[in-house]
Formats: sequence, structure tokens, C-alpha cells
Amino acid sequence: MLRRRVATLTLFVAASLACGSVEAQRGETVRDWDAERRRMVEEQLRGRDIRSVRVLDAMLKVPRHLFVPEEQRARAYTDSPLPIGYEQTISQPYIVAFMTEMLRPEPGQRVLEVGTGSGYQAAVLSELGAEVFTIEIVPPLADRARATLQRLGYRKIQVRTGNGYAGWPEHAPYDRIAVTAAPDAVPPALIDQLKIGGLMAIPVGTLFQELRILRRTAGGVETLSTMRVRFVPMTGKPAKP
Ligand SMILES: C[S@@+](CC[C@H](N)C(=O)[O-])C[C@H]1O[C@@H](n2cnc3c(N)ncnc32)[C@H](O)[C@@H]1O
Repeated sequence: MLRRRVATLTLFVAASLACGSVEAQRGETVRDWDAERRRMVEEQLRGRDIRSVRVLDAMLKVPRHLFVPEEQRARAYTDSPLPIGYEQTISQPYIVAFMTEMLRPEPGQRVLEVGTGSGYQAAVLSELGAEVFTIEIVPPLADRARATLQRLGYRKIQVRTGNGYAGWPEHAPYDRIAVTAAPDAVPPALIDQLKIGGLMAIPVGTLFQELRILRRTAGGVETLSTMRVRFVPMTGKPAKP
């Protein structure tokens, strides 16, 4: 049985970041990104209901400010999603942590992510030891995420440019699937590519969605509804036959 949790999400809490910054010798302000990241983990994650030490540690390691466009960098550790171009977003840190905690990937497990975006969620999954396969439908975003992940040394993440509705059958079955764009129904190909006993986190709906955790069983699928969320829509829906 999946564990039911009470999510205490405040989606767009105005973060009161007295940003950690130090003055450089030449006079310009150099931000102390490590301090900002520690504050993000303490206040936005541990301060709510994220309990997994592995997830908290992973989010302490990933330099979120290097996954957002230059003009958004100063806001990288605030308590909100941020624009990354092409009308897409990097998810709010709490949502990344929550989905990761619900999926609880183990080292060596194979994880599919649909919706690479900036590559940040993929990096967090990789810090937990997973082998990550991530798909992005917007080519320039896929290219940018691939370059960022390569530059930061994430060798166990493969980025594919394509439509996640079909999954990535060549590497299936997956232990875990994280869908970070919202379809209006769970794509059947993703269920087919999930191992028996495997878990999928997926926002389902239109304007607002329900974040569901699915477990594939021998007889079908068990579903747990967690909280109301707002993700960008999953695009590129295949035409009905
Ligand atoms: C909320 S963003 C994902 C954030 C991302 N996980 C991150 O860490 O930055 C959703 C992403 O899903 C992508 N997307 C939408 N529909 C898709 C599809 N059918 N296949 C693959 N990617 C898709 C969007 O282009 C967008 O980059």
C-alpha cells in the first residue's frame, strides 16, 4: 500500500530571502550560493514535510542556480517555479523534493523522466544514484539541459529530444517514472514501460492537476492522489487512431 501523506504546500509563498551574499574585493556582490541552497533546504523542504535525508542531501548538492537562465539566477533558490524560456518552467524546489521523495529511487535503479526542462530534476534523481533517461520535446531546451548536465559532470543521465507520450521503450522497463508536464490522462505507454512494483509520479489534469503516485501491480495499477499542483501542460499529444 502506498503511504498517504498530508502535503502542506503553499505554492507561491513569497520567500523572505535575506540572500546570503558576500562582498567581493572589487566591490561587486558575489552571492553565496551554498548558503542560499542550505537555506532553501532548511526552510522550504525540511521546514515543511520533506523527511528523507537522501533527498535533502541530493538537493543540497545540485547547484540549482546553474540550471536557470542568467536573468533568473538571483531567484534560483526562491520558493517558486521560474521561467526557463520557450514558455516553460523549472519546478518549485518543494515540488521537486516531494516528487523525488514519493518515488524514493534507489542507487542503480533506472528512472525515466518526461519533461527534462532545465535538467534540474534529472540531476537530483542522479544524485540519488539512479540511472536517468530524460525526454524533452522542445529541442533547444533539450540541448541546453544536455550541455548543463555534461558540464556539471552528470554522466549517468541521458537526454533525448522527443515526445514523452511514447516513453523511451529502448531502455524500459523502468523502476521509476517522473512526469513533470501535465497530460489530461496517464499515457498508456508509460504504464507499459513501468516495472511491476515500480512507481510513477504524474500530474494529471488541465489547468490545475492532481499529483498522482501510481504503483504498477501484477493485476493493474494502484493510485494515490497527493495534492493539487500546477504544471505546464504536456504537449504533442498523439492523434487518436
Ligand atoms: C515543468 S517543466 C519541467 C521541469 C524540469 N523537470 C526541470 O527540472 O527543469 C515541463 C517540461 O516538459 C516538457 N514537455 C511538455 N510536453 C512534453 C512531451 N510530450 N514530451 C517531453 N517533454 C514535454 C516542456 O517542454 C517542459 O520543458
